[in-house]
Amino acid sequence: MATSPKRIALGVTGGIAAYKAAELLRLLQDQGHEVQVIMTESAQRFIAPLTFAALSGRRVITDMFEDQPECEREDDSIEHISVAQRIDALVIAPATANTLAKLAHGIADDFLTVLALATRAPLIVAPAMNVNMWEHAATRANVATLKARGVRIIQPDTGILACGMTGAGRLADVGVIADAVLAELARQQDLRGEIFLITAGPTREPVDPVRYLGNRSSGKMGFALAEAAHRRGARVLTVSGPAAIEPPSGVETVRVETTDQMAEAVLDRLSEATAIVMAAAVADYQAVEVARSKIKKEQGALTLMLEPTRDILGEITVRHQPNQLLVGFAAETDDLLENARAKLRSKRLDLVVANNVTQEGAGFDVDTNIATLVFADGDYKALPRMSKLELAHCVLDELVKLRLNRT
Ligand SMILES: Cc1cc2nc3c(=O)[nH]c(=O)nc-3n(C[C@H](O)[C@H](O)[C@H](O)COP(=O)(O)O)c2cc1C
Repeated sequence: MATSPKRIALGVTGGIAAYKAAELLRLLQDQGHEVQVIMTESAQRFIAPLTFAALSGRRVITDMFEDQPECEREDDSIEHISVAQRIDALVIAPATANTLAKLAHGIADDFLTVLALATRAPLIVAPAMNVNMWEHAATRANVATLKARGVRIIQPDTGILACGMTGAGRLADVGVIADAVLAELARQQDLRGEIFLITAGPTREPVDPVRYLGNRSSGKMGFALAEAAHRRGARVLTVSGPAAIEPPSGVETVRVETTDQMAEAVLDRLSEATAIVMAAAVADYQAVEVARSKIKKEQGALTLMLEPTRDILGEITVRHQPNQLLVGFAAETDDLLENARAKLRSKRLDLVVANNVTQEGAGFDVDTNIATLVFADGDYKALPRMSKLELAHCVLDELVKLRLNRT
C-alpha cells in the first residue's frame, strides 16, 4: 500500500522480541517512511540503541531528560512535544505487559509513555509476552481499555514462546505489523477534499422551564466519526446536541439543544457538505405545548400531549444533491435489518449504520458498538464489537469506496 512519506515513531520496550523491531524498522523505511526510534530503559537491556541508530540513521531517543542536540532541533519546543506533533503514527512493538498497563492508565514516566499521551497520531500496539502474562486478567483489562479508546492492537501469535511455554503471546509477524501501520497511514488523507457534516448527541425537547424530554445518547459515536474524518483529511462540521463529552479538536462545532435547532443548523450548512452523517439521536417527540412555569407535582397525575418532531433526515432527503453521500443511523431494539432497510429506502440513504441498542457493548453511552452496515444495494456487513472510533473508520472506509464508485 503506497503512501507519501510519513513520519513514524517506533517505540521498543523491554521484551525478548525487541530485536524483531529492527526488522520492522527496515520494512517501514523500505516504504519510504522516516522512522524515529524510542527505546525504554528495559529495552536497552535486550538490544543496543546503536543497532537502531545505525539502521535509521537517526539518534535513538532513550531518555526524557537528555538534551536534544542543537542540530536536530526543528523549533524551540520540548522534544517529546515536538515529536508528538510531527509524527503521523506511533507504533509500539514489541509492547510489554508493563507498557500496556502504563498506556491504559495514562502513566507517563518515560519518553515513550509521555509521547503516547502527548500525540494525537494513531497508536498501534503489538504486544509480546509470556502466555500467562498475556492471559492475566490485568492485561486483558488493559487491552480492552486501549481497544475501547481506539488503539489498534495487533494480536500476538500463538506458538512456542521464548520462555519455553506454548500459547498466545509471541510478537505478531513483523510484516503483519508493518501492514497495519501502512494501512493506518494510507487512511490518513483519503478523505482530503471532503466536507463532512455530522450530527452528534441527543436533542432535548422542553416540557417546562426546568424539564425536558431527552435520551441517553452521549455524543460518543458522532464525535468518533468527526475525529476519524478529521484525521483522514476531511473538513468536518458537527452539529451537536447537549453531548456528555467535548467535541474533538480541529472540528467546527455548532451546539444546539432542540430538534428544531438541529434541523435549522443542518439545513443551513447542507449545501457545503460532500457527505452527511446523521449520528445524532434526535428526539422523536416534543410537547405540543411547553408550560411557561414549572409544572407542580401537587397537581397530581400529568398527561403530556406529544407530537412528532421534525424529520431532519426526511428534509435532507428532498434537498440533498446526488453527489452528496448520505449516511443514517438506526438504533433499534427489534428487527434490526428490516428496520434499517426500510429507513435506507424511505430516506434514500447510501448507508445505514444499524445497531441493536439492547445488546451489551452497543448503543448509548458506552465506548464500544456492535453495528451492521446496510447498503443501498441491499447488501449488509455485520461487524463485531469494536470501539466507536474503529467503527467510525469502518464507516468511512465504506464511504471512500462509495465515493470511488460514484466518480
Ligand atoms: C529475560 C527477560 C525477558 C522478558 N520478556 C518480556 C516480554 O517478552 N514481555 C513482557 O511483557 N515483559 C518481559 N520482561 C519483563 C519486562 O522487561 C519488565 O516488565 C520491564 O519492566 C518492562 O519495561 P518497559 O515496559 O518499560 O520496557 C522480560 C524480562 C526479562 C528479564
